[in-house]
Amino acid sequence: MTDPATEEATGEAQYTPEWLALREDADADARARDLLAPLRERIAGRERVVVRDLGCGTGSMGRWLAPRLPGPQHWVMHDRDPVLLRIATGTMVRAAGDGAPVTVATSQGDATALTAADLAGASLVTASALLDLLTADEVGRLAAACTGAGCTALLTLSVAGRVELTPGDPMDSRIEAAFNAHQRRRVDGRRLLGPDAVAAAAEAFTAAGADVLVRPSPWRLGPERAGLAVEWLRGWVAAAVEQDPALAEPGAGYLDRRLAAAEAGALRVVVDHEDLLATHG
Ligand SMILES: C[S@@+](CC[C@H](N)C(=O)[O-])C[C@H]1O[C@@H](n2cnc3c(N)ncnc32)[C@H](O)[C@@H]1O
Repeated sequence: MTDPATEEATGEAQYTPEWLALREDADADARARDLLAPLRERIAGRERVVVRDLGCGTGSMGRWLAPRLPGPQHWVMHDRDPVLLRIATGTMVRAAGDGAPVTVATSQGDATALTAADLAGASLVTASALLDLLTADEVGRLAAACTGAGCTALLTLSVAGRVELTPGDPMDSRIEAAFNAHQRRRVDGRRLLGPDAVAAAAEAFTAAGADVLVRPSPWRLGPERAGLAVEWLRGWVAAAVEQDPALAEPGAGYLDRRLAAAEAGALRVVVDHEDLLATHG
């Protein structure tokens, strides 16, 4: 999703460790657990599972998934941000669910440049909250790289473009539409996929000969997650206003109303995401 992230002069978003920590529990609860059985089946019997986590941030995917997979694992954390990579290695779990060792390494750079040759030897490619930040070409290359290397891919928590706020407000749908347009914006000549990411990935992996499963993985933010709801609301409305400056004034009033409700524990938000598992061969 478009997180509360700052953009550098290059247009590349920067994700803070604080924001990634704030969302980690909601992400963990949202992840589609019914993809775990087919994933375990794919990697069963390997002496050691090599996982490459693309756009790993502080490593929340590894902390969640490694204990849910059996046997020795080696995780290569990929991100372009060296600060996040340091946190990811320092906080990675060191044991699988059955106590087998988990080792970790890092790779700094553009994960979308990885080829099938780069992924050789990996059993699994994961990415969490990354796909919607990519372009159709980048997702196509990722699908070709994974299938070319014979890797399974678990690509989770991509925005689906639907948000449900309870109670409703007459401005909800206008903010949602502007936010979705912002997600699909052009950045430095790159047209981001935003809510179209999962459909594009499903098409690309299928065309490359993979079998694809897609499952919902919505965030459910009630009063117990008011802190995350507040920060998410700020980012959601800010992106909508950036996309449609005519929303600046009504958007400010809308945000005040929504923040007051969230802080009072009187707002529930469902932010739809989707998880995709692609298997090959
Ligand atoms: C929304 S954050 C998600 C982080 C982490 N996967 C999580 O779920 O907490 C997106 C991450 O992808 C990284 N990223 C975005 N585009 C990238 C690229 N092309 N190559 C490498 N890392 C990228 C960002 O630096 C950031 O850490």
